[in-house]
Amino acid sequence: MLSYKSVAVSLLAATSAFAQYNSTKGPDEDGKYEISAEGIRAQFIPYGASITNLFIHDKNGEERDIVLGHDNASFYSVDPFHPHLGGVPGRYANRIKNSSFVIDDIEYHVTPNENNNNDTLHGGPDGWDYRNFTIVAYTDDSITFSIVDPDGKEGFPGEVVSYITYTVTPNTWHIKMIALATTKKTPIMLSSHTYWNLDGFANDETPTALNHTLSLPYSGQRIGVDGILIPDGTILPNEKYSVNDFWSSPKQIGANHTAPELLGNCGTNCTGYDNAYLVNRAQNGPYDWRTSGPVASLWSDWSGIKVDIFSDQDAFQVYSCGGQNGSLPIKKTQGLEGRPRVVEQYGCLVMEVEDWIDAINQPEWQREKKHIFGPGDEPYVLEARYEFSVNK
Ligand SMILES: *[C@@H]1O[C@H](CO)[C@@H](O)[C@H](O)[C@H]1NC(C)=O
Ligand SMILES: *[C@@H]1O[C@H](CO)[C@@H](O)[C@H](O)[C@H]1NC(C)=O
Ligand SMILES: *[C@@H]1O[C@H](CO)[C@@H](O)[C@H](O)[C@H]1NC(C)=O
Ligand SMILES: *[C@@H]1O[C@H](CO)[C@@H](O)[C@H](O)[C@H]1NC(C)=O
Ligand SMILES: *[C@@H]1O[C@H](CO)[C@@H](O)[C@H](O)[C@H]1NC(C)=O
Ligand SMILES: *[C@@H]1O[C@H](CO)[C@@H](O)[C@H](O)[C@H]1NC(C)=O
Ligand SMILES: *[C@@H]1O[C@H](CO)[C@@H](O)[C@H](O)[C@H]1NC(C)=O
Ligand SMILES: *[C@@H]1O[C@H](CO)[C@@H](O)[C@H](O)[C@H]1NC(C)=O
Ligand SMILES: *[C@@H]1O[C@H](CO)[C@@H](O)[C@H](O)[C@H]1NC(C)=O
Repeated sequence: MLSYKSVAVSLLAATSAFAQYNSTKGPDEDGKYEISAEGIRAQFIPYGASITNLFIHDKNGEERDIVLGHDNASFYSVDPFHPHLGGVPGRYANRIKNSSFVIDDIEYHVTPNENNNNDTLHGGPDGWDYRNFTIVAYTDDSITFSIVDPDGKEGFPGEVVSYITYTVTPNTWHIKMIALATTKKTPIMLSSHTYWNLDGFANDETPTALNHTLSLPYSGQRIGVDGILIPDGTILPNEKYSVNDFWSSPKQIGANHTAPELLGNCGTNCTGYDNAYLVNRAQNGPYDWRTSGPVASLWSDWSGIKVDIFSDQDAFQVYSCGGQNGSLPIKKTQGLEGRPRVVEQYGCLVMEVEDWIDAINQPEWQREKKHIFGPGDEPYVLEARYEFSVNK
């Protein structure tokens, strides 16, 4: 097994060797950079190091674009809603309680941007997924983005340097994220904030993703939150047959849609899911995330497309798009003739590989080593693999 440090060193060496990437390859007319392998075609943009399109063949051999995004790269920077479409939230994904945290007895305040400025979501109003990354490597099947996040930006201490590499191999999308705190101790937690609809919004039975089936085999627990989704320190049981039980057997996202407990499950007045499920694997002995089975699987019987997600991360956020209301357009590569070209409520599912959210404000969880990084520490690393298959 590679150590974090050797991964960092080899990635840094690889990126500097590629500093002059093949300049005859560039973006398409929409500003998107495509990589491909057998059975998979994916497009990315520098803005937020975001995935914009992901093409997989369905059970009838038709190519479906199964992630949300915009039609062109330039619209991301002017989109007034900015729903974090497919980007890398950073330098600290999800919410920071009261926009503050303490490191070595110093209290830091970061810029709030949610719930009347009660908390900081996804790194603040100018977090990583509001900025254009630099492309440092680009080949036919891989692209690497980098960002240098300055000391003090959004209130965070110290500079952070990060590399995000996306690679495709047959039917598989690989993600590798690495981040180094170069000058001061600082919180770092990244993720990939991708919105999925495995039917490419072409399902003639429903514009929603409520008929997608989800399995979270290691997730018997979730993080307890308050009405604005801030962790309250508790770890809750996902009891068998309860609305949050996706571990005892797979279940459609809409299976418990009318259960009274689902109201408020994703925050005050919200029906559905926006939960950080724990991924508990150590109890069965040492494991290798690459071979020990997916932390999540999602499939749609309509398209037959299935994704198995493997990751080294210890939590998994699921958001069932209860906040969508038909104002976000789908792309020209998606949809069904004769239906409004928008994302309806519950039309998508966000799935985020990540660590335990807001652990910087829950010291009793003892996860400091996975959240606070300083010069000389091992780098922050996130790896994930999305494997696609088709059930005919
Ligand atoms: C650069 O990319 C072009 C277009 O994909 C390809 O034809 C060419 O062989 C590549 N050159 C190198 C040195 O990889
Ligand atoms: C980019 O997409 C937006 C939203 O779909 C559209 O309004 C705009 O005209 C497009 N711009 C270009 C240059 O294609
Ligand atoms: C990011 O790059 C795009 C495409 O070049 C450009 O239209 C946009 O203004 C840039 N956005 C930011 C925030 O720099
Ligand atoms: C929230 O932060 C403010 C300073 O920004 C501080 O005065 C207040 O005590 C904090 N509230 C809680 C509940 O921690
Ligand atoms: C946020 O903070 C304000 C006070 O600054 C308070 O009135 C409000 O109830 C808080 N909560 C939400 C959800 O906005
Ligand atoms: C789709 O979901 C609805 C609501 O949960 C359910 O009634 C219906 O049976 C599902 N359809 C299929 C084909 O699974
Ligand atoms: C949720 O749906 C599953 C599968 O249909 C069912 O077994 C379970 O009883 C439901 N739970 C609740 C609380 O409605
Ligand atoms: C929740 O919904 C109730 C009933 O519609 C409403 O009175 C209340 O203001 C809502 N609360 C919030 C925080 O949106
Ligand atoms: C729909 O959602 C958008 C973005 O959150 C919001 O600005 C808009 O007011 C909402 N529209 C309706 C009709 O609720």
